[in-house]
Amino acid sequence: MTEQDFTPKSQTSNVESASVKWESPSNIALVKYWGKRENQIPENPSISFTLSNCKTITELTYTKKEGTDFSFDVIFEGAKNAAFKPKIQTFFERVEGYLPFLRDYHFKIETSNTFPHSSGIASSASGMSALALCLMSVEKDLGSDYSDEFFNKKASFLARLGSGSACRSIEGELVVWGETKSISDSSDLFGVKFTENVHPNFQNYQDAILLVDKGEKQVSSTVGHKLMYGHSFASKRFEQAHENLAELKEVLMNGNQKRFIEIVESEALTLHAMMMTSMPYFILMKPNTLQIINKIWEFRQSTGSNICFTLDAGANVHVLFPKAEQEKVYEFIKSELVAYCQNGHYICDRVGQGAQRLA
Ligand code: DP6
Repeated sequence: MTEQDFTPKSQTSNVESASVKWESPSNIALVKYWGKRENQIPENPSISFTLSNCKTITELTYTKKEGTDFSFDVIFEGAKNAAFKPKIQTFFERVEGYLPFLRDYHFKIETSNTFPHSSGIASSASGMSALALCLMSVEKDLGSDYSDEFFNKKASFLARLGSGSACRSIEGELVVWGETKSISDSSDLFGVKFTENVHPNFQNYQDAILLVDKGEKQVSSTVGHKLMYGHSFASKRFEQAHENLAELKEVLMNGNQKRFIEIVESEALTLHAMMMTSMPYFILMKPNTLQIINKIWEFRQSTGSNICFTLDAGANVHVLFPKAEQEKVYEFIKSELVAYCQNGHYICDRVGQGAQRLA
């Protein structure tokens, strides 16, 4: 498929005012997206678990207006929020060719997250995917007739133009984004569901998000991705992501937990290694991030657990583990890891099925 496939033909309905509502989850990458080209094209493929509890709920009310400028208001958790406007303005500019009605309506975007505000959890994946899905529903109300499959594909395509990782939040439970040989229908333009048979070992996986640092991100993802331009290790890293994804595909099918842990933890540390070795360089882990990692390694060593960690571009730690170990791991988190979390906060999440229309 190409970009042109997402340009709608003609709109038939004439709606004065209506509203749509979606909830969309966050996701956690196992093979990381880090580095992108023009138009939100990833430098390497990535794969993520779609989450279940960490989500954004967005209601979009659209009303016919005069004039040709974009017009929208953002209401975040009940209050008008100007801080999100530039990101949404950029998003509208990027997607207007695919949503020709954007200049015909005023949009009231009412949005909230189920996870605490300023928890250091990136809301761009859930937020941008929820908004993309709302806009797809508007397009449908205005007369576009799409199959569910194409609807999701275009929602993912639009979400990508808002934030790369957002394109992996439309569906569950595992989504691949970025063209790569080992996944036949993979694309740089949108996320595709991982359709191989996932071994029972990796079904219903759990993710406890330990909030080590709830502050503003030290490095925005826009700045972070740019650090890969001219990075000494970039081309090797991009190659490695293809290899890791190909092997992870096999592992997800054959249930090899040892290799799963090795690939996932290595991906997390590689992401941070890229940031530590870029110019300018950053250390996004905090002392407590390392304490937690060491505790996880000790616990795994002494109990034979299949617990492992992954990281985003920040200090928080995602603790991944099989459903069967839930009780044991939460006991461990409460007794050993909570002490390293800011105000003892952590979020219990698990793999989910993707976004849902609410109204
Ligand atoms: C470290 O999707 O936030 O979480 O496309 O600039 O919005 P933009 O970047 P973003 O980058 C996320 C990077 C990551 C790894 C991942 O989710 O794959």
